[in-house]
Amino acid sequence: MAVEQTFVIIKPEAVERRLTGEILTRFERKGLKIQRLAVTEISKEVAKKHYAHHGDKPFFPHLIEAMTSGPVVLAVLEGDEAISQVRNLVGATDPAKAAPGTIRGDFALRLPYNMIHAADSPDAAQEEIQRFFGN
Ligand code: CMP
Repeated sequence: MAVEQTFVIIKPEAVERRLTGEILTRFERKGLKIQRLAVTEISKEVAKKHYAHHGDKPFFPHLIEAMTSGPVVLAVLEGDEAISQVRNLVGATDPAKAAPGTIRGDFALRLPYNMIHAADSPDAAQEEIQRFFGN
């Protein structure tokens, strides 16, 4: 078991619905440690950089609009196998396919409004932590 760091963005729709505490509680109950936490707004420039790999998708403009529509909560989480543990708690990308009991399965109905982004690899986690928190 390797101790890992991961990075999540609690998206504007979740903050708007006052689900921040509920979501962070799920990570804490699992045993993950909150290392860093911030409430902020993401600029269009940073959102486009963060989702650059989706730049050619038809949903890209809508995704950028949604991610910059209000405050978000950024968090760095740490624990054994944190990347896969967090992704298991978050559930499938499409809320319509996410299992009940997961964050997306319990609180989201349709894309792109899936409540939370979670890094998908150690490299992505470090790159995203650097992008959003700096050193
Ligand atoms: P996230 O995990 O933040 O990574 C990319 C995001 O793009 C994803 O969550 C969704 O918000 C959004 N997304 C992915 N696929 C689709 C799709 N088919 N239609 C609309 N939005 C999508």
